[in-house]
Amino acid sequence: MSSERVQVAIVGAGPAGLLLGRLLHDAGITAVILEARSREHCEGRVRAGMLEQGTVDVLREAGVGQRLDREGLVHGGIYINFAGERHRIPIQELTGGRTVTVYGQTEIVKDLIAAHLQDGPPLRFEVGDVTLHDLDAPRLTYRHEGVEHELRADLVAGCDGFHGICRAAVPDGALTIREREYPFAWLGILADVAPSTDELIYAHHPDGFALHSMRSPSVSRLYIQVDPGDELDAWPPERVWEALHRRLHCEGWTLTEGPITDISITPMRSFVAAPMRHDALLLAGDAAHIVPPTGAKGLNLAVADVTRLAEAMIAALSGGDDRGLDAYSQACLARVWRAQHFSWWMTTLLHTDPTADAYAEELRRSQLEYVVSSDAAARSLAENYAGLPLDGPEHAVLARG
Ligand code: APR
Ligand code: PHB
Repeated sequence: MSSERVQVAIVGAGPAGLLLGRLLHDAGITAVILEARSREHCEGRVRAGMLEQGTVDVLREAGVGQRLDREGLVHGGIYINFAGERHRIPIQELTGGRTVTVYGQTEIVKDLIAAHLQDGPPLRFEVGDVTLHDLDAPRLTYRHEGVEHELRADLVAGCDGFHGICRAAVPDGALTIREREYPFAWLGILADVAPSTDELIYAHHPDGFALHSMRSPSVSRLYIQVDPGDELDAWPPERVWEALHRRLHCEGWTLTEGPITDISITPMRSFVAAPMRHDALLLAGDAAHIVPPTGAKGLNLAVADVTRLAEAMIAALSGGDDRGLDAYSQACLARVWRAQHFSWWMTTLLHTDPTADAYAEELRRSQLEYVVSSDAAARSLAENYAGLPLDGPEHAVLARG
């Protein structure tokens, strides 16, 4: 068995693990990233793609902003569709100038992997049986290219997503779980066709929610609400397009179809495991919390966690100052719960819930009308959608918990 020692062992090479690796490497901290899947798999997963300004700023500071600045689509508003009408929420105007950027998470992962392979901590793909043995004086074992390895570290970053091993390594009873499941899922497609809209369209329809997003001037990303038990076989292209036409319909507007290049179904869940620190193990991103994708907060939360975690780890490992690590969980959870509420709220507002009673349905309809007719209600949506700044006075308030 080969043996190695680093300051930080990072489990998972999603956006959270990869970005953390970059930030630590830039500060001279030694790290290793262990990833269960292949590079091709990590670079081929189609995920969401709406970045808050704070997320864009962090990616630029981490040296992976060049392609994002060239290809990212900057938006100042979103459309909300219901009862056959389209309404615009002017996010930029309502938030004193904040914009959002459409750039696929897949592209961020590719940019981060390329930067790592050029100059970064060791990044090992296709590692097997990663096991975390001790949360206090961490020792990990894993298999790579047929060889058993042991890795000792001062700290472990659990960035291994919702199904990873890090959260599961926390002793029974030490984690408090809060969660919600939704009686629907999202079917998402990528289509080789120019987007039929300049900004994203979020649509409520009695048949179910639909979203028109995009990836580039020639690639559209679209979603429809489906039953969580649905299989892809039930959704041939004609049925998907027919549902999109109907749910996104608005007088005088047409949706252009194109060849579908990717299709998948994702369940919807809200989940928070607290606290996010256990001795030397720190959880970040989907390993600690999941939001339904309606508010596009998953990636942004992962980046916010990791930005704070990198700062805390650097202070502890190079300056012996543990205050950041001690404050990490509480500070992250303040932002996490704001995003939990917003994502749950956007989801409830826009989906057709087969289990909701008539009273709940009237509340939903009334709230939707309020959001498109009151500046105060629209501003609340806009501020949450654009995201709370990572620094500045709002951040200080969040950090105090
Ligand atoms: N060992 C090593 N790696 C693992 C293991 C394991 N036992 N289990 C999971 N992984 C890897 C996964 O293969 C994946 O590449 O951990 C990575 C976790 O990445 P993500 O799931 O992308 O999670 P995160 O980096 O927190 O990013 C959060 O991604 O899932 C979306 O909606 C989410 O946008 C959000 C963002
Ligand atoms: C996406 O483009 O994938 C996307 C955009 C906005 C969302 C969710 C997903 O709210």
